[in-house]
Parts: sequence; C-alpha cells; structure tokens
Amino acid sequence: MLVSLIVAYGNNWQIGLNNKLLWYIKKDLENFKALTQGHHIIMGRETFLSINKILHKRTNIVLSKTNFYHKDVHTFTQIKKALDFCKKNKEQEVFIIGGAQIYELCFPYVNKLYLTKVNYDGPADTYLKNIDFKPWVCEKEEFYKEIIQNGKTKTLAWTYKVYYKIKN
Ligand SMILES: NC(=O)c1ccc[n+]([C@@H]2O[C@H](COP(=O)([O-])OP(=O)(O)OC[C@H]3O[C@@H](n4cnc5c(N)ncnc54)[C@H](OP(=O)(O)O)[C@@H]3O)[C@@H](O)[C@H]2O)c1
Repeated sequence: MLVSLIVAYGNNWQIGLNNKLLWYIKKDLENFKALTQGHHIIMGRETFLSINKILHKRTNIVLSKTNFYHKDVHTFTQIKKALDFCKKNKEQEVFIIGGAQIYELCFPYVNKLYLTKVNYDGPADTYLKNIDFKPWVCEKEEFYKEIIQNGKTKTLAWTYKVYYKIKN
C-alpha cells in the first residue's frame, strides 16, 4: 500500500495560521480532490475541526488521543492501527492530509509525496518539518505563475512536485 503525504507549504515551510490554510489556490484544491477521492485519508483532530465537515467520497480517518467522536469518521489513537485499517480495507494508496503533528508522526511510513510549494512569505503558526530530499526522487514537476487581476495578486506563484522514495 502506498502511504502518500499531501501538503501545501510556503517558503518557510508554513502550513497554517489560526487553524486555517494560508492561501486559496483553486487548481491545487481541485487536484487534492481528484487525487484523494475514492481513498482513505488520515488527518489530525485539529485539521478535521478546521475543515469542519467530512470530505465526501473518501474514508475519513481522524487521529486523536482524546475521546474524539464523530459519527461519520473513523477515529484511531495510533497511526499503526489506522494504517492496518486501510490495509484491511484493501486500500492501494492512503493519503496523509495533515496537519503538522500528523505529518511528522506519519513521515516514517510515507513513501510518496505530493508537494505544493507556494511563494508565500507571510505569517503562520504551524509549520511542516523540513524535508530532507536525499532519499526522494522527483517524478513530476509543474510550475504555475502568479495570477494578477486589477493590479492585485489573485493567486500566488506555486510549484507542484511529486516524489517517490528510493527503496533501501
Ligand atoms: N497547508 C496544508 O497543506 C495543510 C494541511 C492540513 C492542515 N493544515 C493546517 O495545519 C494546522 C493544524 O495542524 P496541527 O499540527 O495543529 O494539528 P493536526 O496535526 O491536524 O492535529 C493534531 C491532533 O492530532 C492528534 N494527535 C497528535 N499526535 C497524535 C498521536 N501520536 N496519536 C494520535 N493522535 C495524535 C491530537 O488530537 P487530540 O488532542 O484529540 O489527542 C492532536 O491534538 C491548521 O492550521 C491547518 O489549517 C495545513
């Protein structure tokens, strides 16, 4: 089973502020939807509260060490148990969708990365732990220019890259 991490981060690895995302990039969100639909997705309790609804056509899994309950999600206290559940359901590719605590917790299990790097230098209170790219090979790279409308930035410039892990 592929364990894929999908994240959008800024120039200083920023990913969130006040439990919200830092930018709106329609095309990137559409890509997120297209990639994750039909799959299991794993997130932390804070990210689930931030989204504030289940993501449809996906099996929503929330990691929490407290007694979190929501009727439409599967809750696990341990990542291994969550991954075992995905395997038991014959998942081919499970997506780790954040946030910072869960990315860090899951990283040792991850073998594919879907990374959106946004040309953002603004404030944040949540950061992705820097990724050491040595064991990773880039298989896809796309560049998107800043979109300016009426003299104002509508969408920041961003880069989309997909990596797979070199097997030991
Ligand atoms: N840019 C992006 O791509 C992206 C993606 C997702 C989220 N975000 C942003 O990231 C921020 C949220 O990230 P966050 O790091 O604060 O929270 P988070 O990772 O979403 O969730 C943290 C929660 O996960 C649970 N947890 C942590 N470690 C665990 C473990 N070892 N076992 C079981 N459960 C565990 C805990 O829940 P309990 O307290 O219930 O135990 C903890 O409070 C928001 O700003 C959000 O918008 C950004």
